[in-house]
Amino acid sequence: MSEKKFYITTPIYYVNDMPHIGHMYTTVMADIFARYHRLCGEKVYFLTGTDEHGQKIEKSAAAQGIPPIKLADRVVERYRHLWELLEISNDDFIRTTEDRHREAVQKIIGRIRENGDLYRGDYEGWYCAGAESFVPDSQVEDGRDLESGYPVERLSEPSWFFRLSAFEDRLLEWYRENPDCIQPRSRYNEVLRFVEGGLKDLSVSRVSVNWGIPFPGEEEHVVYVWLDALTNYISALGFGSSDPSKFEEFWPADLHLVGKDILRFHCVYWPAFLMAAGLPLPKTIFGHGWWMRDDAKMSKSLGNVVRPDYLIEKFGADPLRYFMAREMAFGQDSSFSDQGFLERFNSDLANALGNTASRSLSMAERFLGGEIPSTIPDNAISSVALETVELYRKNMSGLEPNRALEAVWKLLSEINGFIQEAQPWALARKGEEGRAALEECLGTAIEGLRFVSIMIQPFMPSTAEKLRIQLGVGELPMDLETGTRWGLSAGRRLGKTEALFPRIDIARTMKAFASGGEKKQPQPKPTESEESAMITIDDFAKIQLKVGTIREAEAVPKSKKLIRLQVDLGEEELRQVVAGIGDAYSAEDLPGRQVIIVANLKPAKLMGVESRGMLLAASLEGKAVLLAPGTEIPPGTGVR
Ligand code: MSP
Repeated sequence: MSEKKFYITTPIYYVNDMPHIGHMYTTVMADIFARYHRLCGEKVYFLTGTDEHGQKIEKSAAAQGIPPIKLADRVVERYRHLWELLEISNDDFIRTTEDRHREAVQKIIGRIRENGDLYRGDYEGWYCAGAESFVPDSQVEDGRDLESGYPVERLSEPSWFFRLSAFEDRLLEWYRENPDCIQPRSRYNEVLRFVEGGLKDLSVSRVSVNWGIPFPGEEEHVVYVWLDALTNYISALGFGSSDPSKFEEFWPADLHLVGKDILRFHCVYWPAFLMAAGLPLPKTIFGHGWWMRDDAKMSKSLGNVVRPDYLIEKFGADPLRYFMAREMAFGQDSSFSDQGFLERFNSDLANALGNTASRSLSMAERFLGGEIPSTIPDNAISSVALETVELYRKNMSGLEPNRALEAVWKLLSEINGFIQEAQPWALARKGEEGRAALEECLGTAIEGLRFVSIMIQPFMPSTAEKLRIQLGVGELPMDLETGTRWGLSAGRRLGKTEALFPRIDIARTMKAFASGGEKKQPQPKPTESEESAMITIDDFAKIQLKVGTIREAEAVPKSKKLIRLQVDLGEEELRQVVAGIGDAYSAEDLPGRQVIIVANLKPAKLMGVESRGMLLAASLEGKAVLLAPGTEIPPGTGVR
């Protein structure tokens, strides 16, 4: 029998700003499913990446005074770094600025055109650059897009159109024949209603945007950003390339995981593009809910995002991965609260998981000399453990990861109750008489915890590994098939025990949060380009900065801005410095002012006048503002 495959994707993220907890959520959940399917023995391909074209990125880059690709390179590094910190196990990372992607986009457009579903026309409408789309008239009020809140502008331009209207019936048929293709059910209904309301043709090229993939055969046009972006799901597999083997193996996608905000693009446009290109459709598109903070969606544009790198640095990746998966009923909105996170950490991780493990392990060490008994009989806990595996599988396959976790935590609580009832500490006091019951109790607890360690792997990979080492079962199979046979840990030796999740002092941490101290953003690591521009303290020490007092000043003849200054640096002679500050200061106001001078600058001639130093000045809207010490200081004093 050939291995079952599972292809899972995240949306590709815009590079106009740094990643936040919303992006992290989608990627972590996708990682959890990817790891789960690997645990089931399937051949998994997990894709994530970045969406780098379009007006939004063009504008952000322009605002920062850098080319769009520089901005993209910088932000992509942040994403990659964050995914590493979070132990994201993606098999590929696609960037829409890569050649392989451009080729695939041009290929799919060629196929759609060959099938007659593209035509040239003129497009006029309200365009919302913030949302990267034309918006219907009904969605515009006071010059703004009601949905995104961004301003709109009237645009008319020649454009290629995709005959979306022709796909209405085929889409409806697909939805009806595949009732699970859009999940959860409420979103399926939403999409169905939208398409039943009628579809208009879609403009898929832009002449008003420069930063994009050239539309095949049309120099002036770039490909509409969503047709470009959606194609990532097949370009990464080598669609249209000389090696389409991955495409043949993994397409169609088993699960496109997206936020509910981009459901329409994935459930209407994408399947229609694929139909037009004669390609198979994805099996499931799941639209998850939003993380809210103070009732607003966390987003880059609203500026209310939690910076994940800070939370990971403080608490580690696993607790956050667990919290997100457990706290949000998959598909619904949830609100992110620090208090909620800390409480869950203590109750679920430090207490339920950490304490059950540490008490079982320490008693097994103390009462059984660290040896797991040679037989672990079937009993009430073995039944619960096996049932939990079934329930866990059902919930994971049914896209209810929060419920899968609930089931595992129920097993933990059963294990705890079992220990409580058996009272191993009392059995140990009975000596030989209590030995059999003691062995059964602790053997059962350890074996139950081994089951837990298998099931938490997708959610908390590092914790699962640590727990398995402590249980002494590191080399045993850890997949859901062979690893979940009861009794496998019998006869093994425990590893070294150490606390998995030390308790957090919630009151103290919240107080620190409130005072802002704990909320400080960690300094992000510099990117390679930033790093190469950095200097060492020794480099800086080469610059001699001194306080000087201007004694004389006169405008340099025929120059608009240059002023010749004689500056007292505490030396025998005054120092002549020529400064381009004439548009901000007049020469007669300068004598007597104190300034900071770069005193060891190589002399240079400016309009024929020698200058032996440079003044430090801030540049405010292009004009110089001279820097000076806060109080009068003897000329020649060094500045460090
Ligand atoms: N580039 C497009 C997607 C193209 S996919 C072919 C895009 N990018 S994005 O950077 O804005 O990221 C969108 C995704 O991030 C959302 O669909 C969602 O998965 C995730 N989230 C962003 N903010 C979020 C929350 N506040 N909560 C949960 N997830 C959210 O759209």
